[in-house]
Amino acid sequence: MRPLTAPNLPVRLVMPVVTRDSALSVRWLTGGKGRETLQMMGVPDDHIAPASLEQEAARITSFLDRTDQYNWMIELGGTIVGAIWVDLQPSAMLPAPAVSYMVGDTSARGKGVAGASLAAVMDFMSGEGCTTLHARALVTNDASARILFRAGFACAGDPYIDPGDGLFWQNFAVGSADRQGNDDPQNPVAVACEEPS
Ligand SMILES: CC(C)(COP(=O)(O)OP(=O)(O)OC[C@H]1O[C@@H](n2cnc3c(N)ncnc32)[C@H](O)[C@@H]1OP(=O)(O)O)[C@@H](O)C(=O)NCCC(=O)NCCS
Repeated sequence: MRPLTAPNLPVRLVMPVVTRDSALSVRWLTGGKGRETLQMMGVPDDHIAPASLEQEAARITSFLDRTDQYNWMIELGGTIVGAIWVDLQPSAMLPAPAVSYMVGDTSARGKGVAGASLAAVMDFMSGEGCTTLHARALVTNDASARILFRAGFACAGDPYIDPGDGLFWQNFAVGSADRQGNDDPQNPVAVACEEPS
């Protein structure tokens, strides 16, 4: 797949490279900041273990083979700073396709990198014929909610506790119906909820 580019920022979405990205992942996911990143993504505390190079290499190798997920690394000005991926199969709690992202390099946060990466993936998915894109975030993840609202997502349904992890989540979705102002009660996509202030 060719790299995707984002408007307004030197962000490119590129294919993972196992040796480079496994070392980066270990760096991003280690220590207090790594723990916080994993917590923000909804990894339960008792599943957080020190990241190892072997594990990360195996995980990233699997990205390259997977047919149920699109995966990109986020490059900012030539440096890999995070990852963004789209699950093509629904999970128990979230329809597909569903996008997730992580700016693992904390020094790259707050610059619009996740928003720009999301915009590039939304463009790509539209080109693939996708009419509704889903996402979810912990209700406590205000940064992620802001990014999704800014990109045009709306809450889809009420917040819920996922029985799989015991955490409190909110699903989101964006679709062509939303962009035109959806007022169809039969369409489950657009349900108003409060944007974090
Ligand atoms: C959430 C995350 C992806 C944001 O990445 P980023 O590149 O810093 O995001 P952006 O700069 O594009 O936008 C961040 C938005 O959130 C806001 N924000 C950042 N930190 C925040 C916080 N702690 N509380 C509330 N809002 C916050 C920013 O002000 C910005 O909103 P604005 O554009 O309306 O001003 C990044 O912090 C991260 O990777 N966190 C860990 C993994 C994660 O949470 N992934 C998402 C799982 S659903």
